[in-house]
Amino acid sequence: MADVPLFPESASHLSEQTDNLFWFLFGVSAFISVLIFLLIAVFAIKYHRRAPNEIGAPISGSLKLEIAWTVIPFVIAMIMFAWGARLFFNMAHPPPQAMQIFVVAKQWMWKAQHPEGRIEINELHVPVNRDVMLTMTSQDVIHDLFIPAFRIKADVLPNRYTSMWFRASKPGRYHLFCAEYCGTNHALMGGWVTVMEPADFEDWLSRGERGRSMVESGAVLFQNYKCANCHVEDGSGHAPSLMGVYGAPVRLTTGQTITADDAYLRESILNPRAKIVAGYRPEMPSFQRILNEEQVLQLIAYIKTMSAGKPLQTTGSELSNPAR
Ligand code: CUA
Repeated sequence: MADVPLFPESASHLSEQTDNLFWFLFGVSAFISVLIFLLIAVFAIKYHRRAPNEIGAPISGSLKLEIAWTVIPFVIAMIMFAWGARLFFNMAHPPPQAMQIFVVAKQWMWKAQHPEGRIEINELHVPVNRDVMLTMTSQDVIHDLFIPAFRIKADVLPNRYTSMWFRASKPGRYHLFCAEYCGTNHALMGGWVTVMEPADFEDWLSRGERGRSMVESGAVLFQNYKCANCHVEDGSGHAPSLMGVYGAPVRLTTGQTITADDAYLRESILNPRAKIVAGYRPEMPSFQRILNEEQVLQLIAYIKTMSAGKPLQTTGSELSNPAR
């Protein structure tokens, strides 16, 4: 499709499938439109009134015709539905072993954080032929991350994590955009995805002003904000132990039981009184104005390692740079 300039490049596992569905929809619509216009023209000529006092012959209808024009469109619509739903479910379910990258949107930039520690702005480096999952949130208003060459697009919302995934199919540089009007510089809120060969990507990841990994940064935050003073490992503190909490069921004072996922951990850091664990009192202060979204993601990354039973030990006491 390279010679049709209206079409963006096709560079992900999904783009060909998405285009095929698009062309099917387009083809069916075009065929039906042309058919209708042709029939209008043919009938207008064939059955036009021949005399001013001519009266049309009565018709009694045709069961065969009625069934045909009900069943055929029904079958076509069901094909569209099943095909689209299959593609949608595929897009909505990131493979569990996908590589993770964390994206924070803010007026007016995209900030991507790799677990290994590299942070980039309005750029996203990924390896080719590898499943990549983006976990995204916004620090202010609603944005929307759109990568046309990958045929993927998802809203990025404040106070919520959304995700999308892709598998880039060929190395190169592809545009990324904000596709939701988000204020004065919305049109400038874009950048580039760079798809690299795996070896080049590893090289890129290890180069540059690479600081701590996300887990290390999270461990430093955990230490500096004295989280362990209350969240004592053996559960004897003022707050529940965080060992093994990630992914586990948590019983709340309301009697409800929820699963400790990313969204729950984030809420409990920024708005700790929203959900109180059964047996504890609402004592934790909010970190809403203290931590930015990148730091919350780092803390969650660290809490995940505590849940895996191997928390990172830190002795450093310096605050990690609030990366605003
Ligand atoms: Cu961000 Cu538009």
